[in-house]
Amino acid sequence: MKVCYFTATGNCLYVAKRIGGEALSIPQLMKQDRIELTDDAVGIVCPVYGGEMPKMVRRFMEKAAIQTDYFFFIYTYGMNHSVAIPNAAALAAKAGIRLDYVNTVKMVDNYLPGFEMKNQMENAPAKKIEEQIDAVCRDIAARKKNAPSVGIVQKIGMALVRNTMGRVVLKDTAAQHYIVNDDCIRCGICAKVCPANNITVTDQVRFSDHCEDCYACLHACPKNALHMKNERSAVRFRNEHVTLKEIIAANE
Ligand SMILES: Cc1cc2nc3c(=O)[nH]c(=O)nc-3n(C[C@H](O)[C@H](O)[C@H](O)COP(=O)(O)O)c2cc1C
Repeated sequence: MKVCYFTATGNCLYVAKRIGGEALSIPQLMKQDRIELTDDAVGIVCPVYGGEMPKMVRRFMEKAAIQTDYFFFIYTYGMNHSVAIPNAAALAAKAGIRLDYVNTVKMVDNYLPGFEMKNQMENAPAKKIEEQIDAVCRDIAARKKNAPSVGIVQKIGMALVRNTMGRVVLKDTAAQHYIVNDDCIRCGICAKVCPANNITVTDQVRFSDHCEDCYACLHACPKNALHMKNERSAVRFRNEHVTLKEIIAANE
């Protein structure tokens, strides 16, 4: 089994590790000219961003040649997965991949303008994250099928969400509005955790225009020197089962 994941703060990497098999980073796979994945089961684990999947995961699905008897898609999210499930089904159909199983795991929400991270971490036990992951693991082990169909209602929902949430998230230039404060020591961790190679650190930290809007840089800065104007607080998050080294290895 191959489990391809995209992660900014570790939730998806943790779920990928829990599912088992070979965990493969999507940012690393995307460096290949051709992506060919063949196995008895192949899956994707990625976060929900405004009811969508990350832009890079969308491009990955379009690029990868996946040969498998069982293809699954797992989203992690914090509050509301909205139209993320029909989005996965629609994209799989467009990419010519038969989607067998899709599910979601509600975890800590790392969306800084919406949530105070301290509350998110304190309230995580109520989400019963381990139980949710156990259920997903059981379903995948049993090769459970639940592929959703995408009808007119879902299509209207996806268009509505894209026209509203799409104006707020997934912006290529998102990071250009970040504030780098005087605590920055130009250690380059922000560039190393960026899955999009969108950050260069010399005498200054510079953000280019192909941001994934994933917040990996904001959450990983060891000096807490990167901020958004509209963040709820300066507290940052990383999944407790995932190290900074693993996020760098996944995204550098
Ligand atoms: C830009 C952005 C948009 C997000 N949008 C949503 C959303 O629409 N619904 C939701 O429930 N969570 C949303 N989240 C929260 C993430 O999906 C969630 O925290 C996820 O588990 C993070 O996975 P990771 O730790 O692997 O990066 C968003 C996070 C970011 C950074």
